[in-house]
Amino acid sequence: MKAAILIGGQGTRLRPFTLDTPKPLLPVLNRPFLEYQFRVLRSHGVRDIALCTSYRAENFRRAFGDGRRLGVRLKYVRETIPLGTGGAAKNAEKLLGGGTALILNGDVLNAFDVRAFLRFHRERRAEISIALTRVKDPTAFGLVLTDERGRVRRFLEKPSWDEVETNTINAGAYLFEPSVFTHIPAGKTYSLERGLFPERLAAGALLGGWVAPGYWIDIGTVDKYLQVHLDILHGRTPFKADGVTAGPQADAIVAAGAGSRVAPFARFSGAVSLGRRVRVGRGAQLTDCVVLDDAAVGDGARLERCVVGARARVGTHAVLGPGAALAGGSRVGDYSQL
Ligand code: GDD
Ligand code: MG
Repeated sequence: MKAAILIGGQGTRLRPFTLDTPKPLLPVLNRPFLEYQFRVLRSHGVRDIALCTSYRAENFRRAFGDGRRLGVRLKYVRETIPLGTGGAAKNAEKLLGGGTALILNGDVLNAFDVRAFLRFHRERRAEISIALTRVKDPTAFGLVLTDERGRVRRFLEKPSWDEVETNTINAGAYLFEPSVFTHIPAGKTYSLERGLFPERLAAGALLGGWVAPGYWIDIGTVDKYLQVHLDILHGRTPFKADGVTAGPQADAIVAAGAGSRVAPFARFSGAVSLGRRVRVGRGAQLTDCVVLDDAAVGDGARLERCVVGARARVGTHAVLGPGAALAGGSRVGDYSQL
């Protein structure tokens, strides 16, 4: 089976980090985020992957090339203007080999069993199957209501709270029969979630909804981007981080990229991810945070639940509190508080 991954979004909710790096290429524990999803696909025998790019398309080619290094075979499709999730999937049609195809959102880490998903799809003879997951706040996602036999009854993108009838949402992974593509207009902006799914339901087509067990996250916000690091470091996912050392205090988990240096008396707690060539100053305290490549944290600075962009400088004794997101290359003065 071949797959297409939709990676053309601008990642506006993850600015400033996505201003120069598209969301699926943001580093997670010193690897581009999308590499984790490649690994899941590869482990289930899916190696032929079309990447549907638009925003900063050239960055993907530079990062992954033909994919051989990662054990996958990558092909690229590029939209000159973003065509939405539907237009992007339609563009990949010719690369998907004419069989049942797997379509994925590129900002989701989904440790799901692709074969079990395919079995579900085949058993039901569905035209489209949608992988589902359960979340506390469905309003940020596509709400999917199913019946007791796993057939989709309703698909409602970004519902308001008074429309929330279930906690199952679209996990951003679909199986499409080849005939599905005839229902997607070519060369036009079109949404799978607001167009194709509700329209096929209204036409009486059989859409399956399969609740995917296993770890799932969409890294679309700064908070979730931080969270995926903490989840991997705490062992809540099937993935392992490289360069993990116990912190100076045994209760912390710290992963550090090559060339990072931590000065004496620095203290870590919770889970901390350091990029490559990061400097952590004397007596700095870091709790549950991510510091990207070439950033420097000054002596005595305190960081908690925040993300420090590449090449940023945090002054001595500065304090960065929960939710702080420091743009790449920016500076926080000595003793300032954010
Ligand atoms: N090529 C291309 N072109 N890709 C696009 C475009 C486009 O015009 N628009 C969005 N994408 C890609 C994004 O890069 C991302 O990987 C994926 O499609 C989903 O877009 P998001 O902008 O992240 O959507 P969302 O998170 O608000 O909602 C989607 O994902 C949820 C699960 O995380 C929807 O599919 C929801 O229904 C779903 O619940
Ligand atoms: Mg998303």
